[in-house]
Amino acid sequence: MGPTWLKDAIFYEIYPQSFQDSNDDGIGDIPGIIDRLDYVAGLGCNALWINPCFDSPFMDAGYDVRDYKLVAPRYGTNEDLVRLFREAHARGMHVLLDLVPGHTSDQHPWFKASAQADPNEYSARYIWTDEALWGMEGRPYIAGMTERSGAYMLNFFASQPALNYGWLDPYKHWMSATDSPEARATIEAIKDVMRFWLDLGCDGYRVDMADSLVKGDDERKSATCAIWRDIRAMMDRDYPDAALVSEWSNPDQALCQAGFHMDFYLDHQRNGYNTLLRDYETKGGDHSYFRCDAGGSIRRFLDDYLPKYERSRGRGYISLITCNHDTPRPARTLSPAELKLAYAFILTMPGVPFIYYGDEIGMRYLDLRTKEGGYQRTGSRSPMQWSHGENAGFSTAPADQLYLPVDASPDAPSVEGQWADPDSLLSEVRRLVALRHAYEDLQADAPFAVVNDDEAAAPFSYRRGALLLALNPSSRERRLDDALLQGRRVVYRIGGAALHEGSLAMPGQSFVVLA
Ligand code: GLC
Ligand code: CA
Repeated sequence: MGPTWLKDAIFYEIYPQSFQDSNDDGIGDIPGIIDRLDYVAGLGCNALWINPCFDSPFMDAGYDVRDYKLVAPRYGTNEDLVRLFREAHARGMHVLLDLVPGHTSDQHPWFKASAQADPNEYSARYIWTDEALWGMEGRPYIAGMTERSGAYMLNFFASQPALNYGWLDPYKHWMSATDSPEARATIEAIKDVMRFWLDLGCDGYRVDMADSLVKGDDERKSATCAIWRDIRAMMDRDYPDAALVSEWSNPDQALCQAGFHMDFYLDHQRNGYNTLLRDYETKGGDHSYFRCDAGGSIRRFLDDYLPKYERSRGRGYISLITCNHDTPRPARTLSPAELKLAYAFILTMPGVPFIYYGDEIGMRYLDLRTKEGGYQRTGSRSPMQWSHGENAGFSTAPADQLYLPVDASPDAPSVEGQWADPDSLLSEVRRLVALRHAYEDLQADAPFAVVNDDEAAAPFSYRRGALLLALNPSSRERRLDDALLQGRRVVYRIGGAALHEGSLAMPGQSFVVLA
């Protein structure tokens, strides 16, 4: 199953632009992250995922890499990043960097060489047709911008040409096979990038668009999975303590076939995860499970999640997230009371959970103009709110020079405002994180089983190992009578859940853990 530290890992995702500015230029940086490591450790998180911090023209917030082996000057130096690894390790924390293997920036030297008319070592590093005047098999491409005659394929935005891992069944002569020397060279180049930071002390990678490597792949993504198995073999052999988490959201493929240790369960319309927190894009209104009395049901989550969980159990971990840099903050629609219950669920489920910076204080989704290709994602990328002071403690630069504006509302949440308040969302998150660390049965491996998912009368209840948990996000009281309650005691509660003579009374908006 991979590195044992994952069993009790609780990740904290940091968007480096917006976490802490250490040199007054208005943009977050690596020394700033180091300055705040004690905060993350105090929260109880023992692992970090840092969004791309490499040299880039920032047309997509750094997911357009210009140099995989160089820290972007605005964030500091390679030495700063190595110091971050060391400082994190000294606190018992692990650090994942963000690997973008599917594409580079069009400013990457590989691409600049590839775009030249004269054949060279990088000509086939990207996917090119051999004629600029024709398109590319119904796929997004750019033509007419280079000296080389050909159209090149895009993997995401116009600034992100697709690296060439070949095609499953090449049917045009310009398509490489997956076992061609050029496709192999791309894999080796990405492995080389991975080794570079692993050798300097990084503990693994979050892998961007991990399913996007081989073009024309089959439905099972079998050729792309084969590449990841090859990379996993390198990890097992040379970096057995390093971890890989995929942006794939398909555990059958990512965990069972490709060999990732973890796979994100992402917010896709109507999938199980979406029904928990962000069910508002579908017609018919927002029936998110954690919105009090919104008519949601845990069954919509379970129907999607359970089969995926059962099939991937023992093969890898499904990662539940509070949010990420692409997803609207959960506080967009959920109150702090609702967030407490949502996080209680996320932090007591199997697999490896991820908290997105600021979600622990209920940072809001802001209405912001796009920045660096963020578009509607920009609203979830605003500066961390540390205090009630200048720029919320994020930076001492003039407010109009910040990377993004801080939440200006008078009641904007902050770490300072919540840290010492036992009723705050932040205090609840700290207690929940501590609870997970205290009980192996709440961690990644202990089995999950539903006890009751008929919420007409009784609360939703589930087992983790020997523990029994119950959750009532509605405003109405629910009661559970079950032989499983015999001889138990309450070890954690939100709201006034009470266990009396083998009967569990759950008032509206409550959560309980019974040992
Ligand atoms: C992933 C990233 C996203 C980025 C895209 C292209 O979805 O999470 O932020 O824009 O890939 O790299
Ligand atoms: Ca800075």
